Amino acid sequence: EETPMELGGEQGRWEEERLKTASLSFGAKKEREQGMKQEQEKYQLILEEDEMIDFVTTAITMKGTRSEKDQDAPALSQAELKKQSMQEVRRSLPIFPYRDDLLAAIHEHQILVIEGETGSGKTTQIPQYLLEDGYTKGGMKIGCTQPRRVAAMSVAARVAEEMGVKWVTAFVLRTAHQREPVIIIDEAHERTLHTDILFGLIKDIARFRSDLKVLVASATLDTERFSCFFDDAPVFRIPGRRFPVDIFYTKAPEADYLEACVVSVLQIHVTQPTGDILVFLTGQEEIEACCELLQERCRRLGSKIAELLVLPIYANLPSDMQAKIFNPTPPGARKVVVATNIAETSLTIDGIIYVIDPGFCKQKSYNARTGMESLIVTPCSRASANQRAGRAGRVAAGKCFRLYTAWAYKHEMEETTVPEIQRTNLGNVVLLLKSLGINDLIHFDFMDPPPHETLVLALEQLYALGALNHMGELTKLGRRMAELPVDPMLSKMILASEQYKCSEEVLTIAAMLSVNNSIFYRPKDKVVHADNARMNFVVPGGDHLVLLNVKSLIKTQVSGHHFRARDVRDQLEGLMDRIEVEVVSCQGDSVPVRKAVTAGYFYHTARLSKGGYKTVKHQQTVYVHPNSSLFEEQPRWLIYHELVFTTKEFMRQVIEIESGWLLEVAPHYYKSKELEDSSSKKMPRKQGKTKEELG
Ligand code: CDP
Ligand code: MG
Repeated sequence: EETPMELGGEQGRWEEERLKTASLSFGAKKEREQGMKQEQEKYQLILEEDEMIDFVTTAITMKGTRSEKDQDAPALSQAELKKQSMQEVRRSLPIFPYRDDLLAAIHEHQILVIEGETGSGKTTQIPQYLLEDGYTKGGMKIGCTQPRRVAAMSVAARVAEEMGVKWVTAFVLRTAHQREPVIIIDEAHERTLHTDILFGLIKDIARFRSDLKVLVASATLDTERFSCFFDDAPVFRIPGRRFPVDIFYTKAPEADYLEACVVSVLQIHVTQPTGDILVFLTGQEEIEACCELLQERCRRLGSKIAELLVLPIYANLPSDMQAKIFNPTPPGARKVVVATNIAETSLTIDGIIYVIDPGFCKQKSYNARTGMESLIVTPCSRASANQRAGRAGRVAAGKCFRLYTAWAYKHEMEETTVPEIQRTNLGNVVLLLKSLGINDLIHFDFMDPPPHETLVLALEQLYALGALNHMGELTKLGRRMAELPVDPMLSKMILASEQYKCSEEVLTIAAMLSVNNSIFYRPKDKVVHADNARMNFVVPGGDHLVLLNVKSLIKTQVSGHHFRARDVRDQLEGLMDRIEVEVVSCQGDSVPVRKAVTAGYFYHTARLSKGGYKTVKHQQTVYVHPNSSLFEEQPRWLIYHELVFTTKEFMRQVIEIESGWLLEVAPHYYKSKELEDSSSKKMPRKQGKTKEELG
């Protein structure tokens, strides 16, 4: 049994370094006026009609995947009561003293870059200032794009609360015919794929719409680059109010950073004065595991320690659970928020004094040669690490515990994170841009252009899927695919379900696939239990069919995944009308379903060979993920949903197919010769390592 005494010993463990307090200049830099070209309107971007401020979720392609419908309005009297204190809070934010200067600068310049420490009030205040300043007169709307769905929901709710109104929408950017007066590209520093695409689109739109105001809001990172990209737009700097943060490094690298996090949280809890803790982990599985470990140890320690509230936050968490992280901590207790890097800059949680940073994040990486996209846990950048540390110094002097050495910080971390556009598959974006009528993608105005091969490969893949013709123009199929807010392969799969008369099933599978990677999350101490639970759902044929089975069996289960999956499914089903696909069921026959999957994912075919599987097109060695229902079975031909690299290249979500189907669904892509089986006997099972390998 651990006791608080044994948890001490911080001195031996940490090395300290003081983070320099940011010193920033401020005030609008009044730069040269821009000559504005008046061109004819080509296209416009607008937002939904009925509210005045929109927080655009994952801009562009997340069309229609918002989950929240209007929420019930709080009783008016209650809202009135709240309003007063809310106004006080608003006036206390760092941005408030610069309100008038900011509005003047916006008035003066068409494009303005706004830089401010995270939590200074950019996201929640600027749209309201604009509204107060009359920008929404005549039913006009202010748009504010957010790169993350969670953040969009959370800030929209927050702004609604501050304004005492019912609901400010978190909606989706799309093309239409109305004009909005201001568009805020928020969290620009995150450099997500869609933010980067928006930069190019909006820069173009601003050229021929001189009445459009463009605000690029960013944390204190890289703002000169934004200014430069937008033809030297002026930068308005909001001075931060950062308190000093003491940084502690571990003396030696940590073997198990999850365990190190848990120990550090408890150490802080028993040895440090009041103040909440923020822990950065890489994803849902880790976060859930960490929360469970913490809760269990707290239970064991019982009344020996003060109350510790353990709260997770990640993208797929149901919104009522998400909202909990903002609840004030009761006196005498301490809150620990275990978050993905969503809490790095997009969300601000008040009261955080301690940050625990293991120094990792989950990153997409893309190999344009093989077309393989993988999610890899990698060291985060120094810029990220500094943002994380900064979260400890918002309300008072804070402490950041880095679970890596000072040497690793200096020598092993990259300076900044590579923009997503340079490490992702561009299929979706190409489809979207083509559907907006932008044909020449090579010359699109990218802030940081994607690798040439990546663009070419995306075009090739879309061609292979039948979305583009040989001239590179959108086909009818491509136009329909562009209507769906999912990956091109997934939308092709959905469209193929029309032909195979299994859209009912395929929609469910698509929703399940796009929501999660781990319906069957395996907590470390409950692996057997989780595996048994999974076995209950196993059906022959592969993981897609298991997902389908799970979905139909647990209709009532209250879990984040299932809420989200149901939600995504509802929205996809709603879009079926627009692309004229009838929703019909194949009544339990798995062949049509598997054929539809093949029609979308024929790129992802692997064939059993010596020592594992080999991808058909690139002969890359890959393995069935130990969590897969086909891990033991090892069928000859597989389609995989995605590759993940942990200890080796694993195929996640696999389904068994017949090689003949490949010729049926992609005759232009496969030659019958390359699909010939080299032997007629089944290969002996050789998977190398086992489940234990993943822990
Ligand atoms: O965008 P920026 O990082 O500059 O700040 P913000 O998101 O507008 O947050 C300003 C303040 O609003 C934060 O310091 C929080 O105190 C508060 N806030 C909140 O309480 N709940 C939210 N969901 C969002 C913000
Ligand atoms: Mg913000």
